[in-house]
Amino acid sequence: MQTFINLPPQISESAARILSRSDARMLSVHAKELHERYLQGANPLQPHIQKPADCVAYLALRFPATYAQIASALSQIKERIPAWQPKSVLELGCGPGSGIWAAKSIWQSITSAIGVDREQPFLTLAQELHYDSKMALQATWVKSDIVKWVSSEDTTKYDLIIIPNVLNELPEEERAFVIEKVSAKSSGLVVVIEPGTAVGYNIVREVAREVEKTQHLVAPYVDNTFVESETYWIHFSQRFQRPEFQRRIRQSMRDSSLMASDWEDTKYSYVAWGNVPGEKAIWGLCIGRIEKLKGFLTVPVLTREGVTNARVLKRHKAIYNEAKNIRWGDTLEAPIETS
Ligand SMILES: C[S@@+](CC[C@H](N)C(=O)[O-])C[C@H]1O[C@@H](n2cnc3c(N)ncnc32)[C@H](O)[C@@H]1O
Repeated sequence: MQTFINLPPQISESAARILSRSDARMLSVHAKELHERYLQGANPLQPHIQKPADCVAYLALRFPATYAQIASALSQIKERIPAWQPKSVLELGCGPGSGIWAAKSIWQSITSAIGVDREQPFLTLAQELHYDSKMALQATWVKSDIVKWVSSEDTTKYDLIIIPNVLNELPEEERAFVIEKVSAKSSGLVVVIEPGTAVGYNIVREVAREVEKTQHLVAPYVDNTFVESETYWIHFSQRFQRPEFQRRIRQSMRDSSLMASDWEDTKYSYVAWGNVPGEKAIWGLCIGRIEKLKGFLTVPVLTREGVTNARVLKRHKAIYNEAKNIRWGDTLEAPIETS
C-alpha cells in the first residue's frame, strides 16, 4: 500500500495563514514564473529565487513536495541506523526550513537547529513557521552564503547536516568545495538530497563517488560501497497529500477547469555519509517499481555488486507472493531467491 508523507498539521496551518496574506492573483503569477524557472533548470544567471515574492510562491508551490522528499530520504536513513538519536541539525540552503521540519519529524531527539540561507525573506518565513508550530526546538536562522559559511573557522559540529535541493543551484566548483568542507563540521551524518531527475541524480552520484574515497557511505548504497550506475538512476518516489493552499495554487496555474489532483508523487535522489554506530546489514534496496510480466516479475535492486533486476517466477508461489509486495525504497535483508 502506498504511504503518504504530509506536512505536519501545525506547519501546514501556519503556511496557509502566511499565504492568506498574499493577493491570490499575484501569488499565482509568481508561482507560474517560478514553475517555469524550475522547468528550465538551474542557471546561475537566472536564479530560481529573484525577489521576496518568489519565496512566498515557493512556500505555496514547492514546499510540501520538498518536505515529503526530505522526510522520505531521512526515514530510509533511519531504517539503516535505527538506534541513532541525533540532537542537532544544520540545513544549508534551508529555504522555509523544509529539512529542519522533516528532520524533527523523523528524529524527535533533535532539540536544536540551524538554518542557513542567503535569502532573508526565506529565513523570515522559517521563523514564522517555527513560532506558529510551537515545536520543541531551539532554532537559529543565519543569513549567509553557503560557501562563506562552510569556510568559517568555527569548529562547532552538528549531528545531522542536510543539504536539500541546493547543490544544483551552485556552480560545480562550489559544490565540490562545500562537500569537502562540510564533512569536517559533522559529528554524525551528512545528507545531500536532489530532485529525482537525470540532473539531480548525476549531482548526487558525483558527490557519492568523491565522498566514498574518504568517508563512510551509509545510504542508499549497500555495505558502504559506491556503485557506478549510468543506465539506472538511483532515485526514489514519495507520495503526499497536497494541502489546500497548494491545490488552490496548482488549480490557478491550470488552463483546464478540471480539478488539480489532491496528491502528488515527488521523486528524489540522495546520499548519506558519516559515522554512526549500529548500522543494519542489508543485502539490497529496492530502487524502482516491481514489474509484473507474463509468468514472472522483476524487482530492481541495488546491492553492493551493482544494480540488478531480480526475476521471480510465478510458479514459485511463496517467493512470488512475497516479492510482489516489495515496494520502491524497501530494504531487503536477504537475497531474493530467483532460480
Ligand atoms: C530549492 S531551495 C531549497 C530549500 C529547502 N532546502 C527545500 O528543500 O525546500 C534552494 C535554497 O538554497 C538557497 N541558496 C542557493 N544558493 C545559495 C548560496 N550560495 N548560499 C546560500 N543559500 C543559497 C536559496 O536561497 C534557496 O532557499
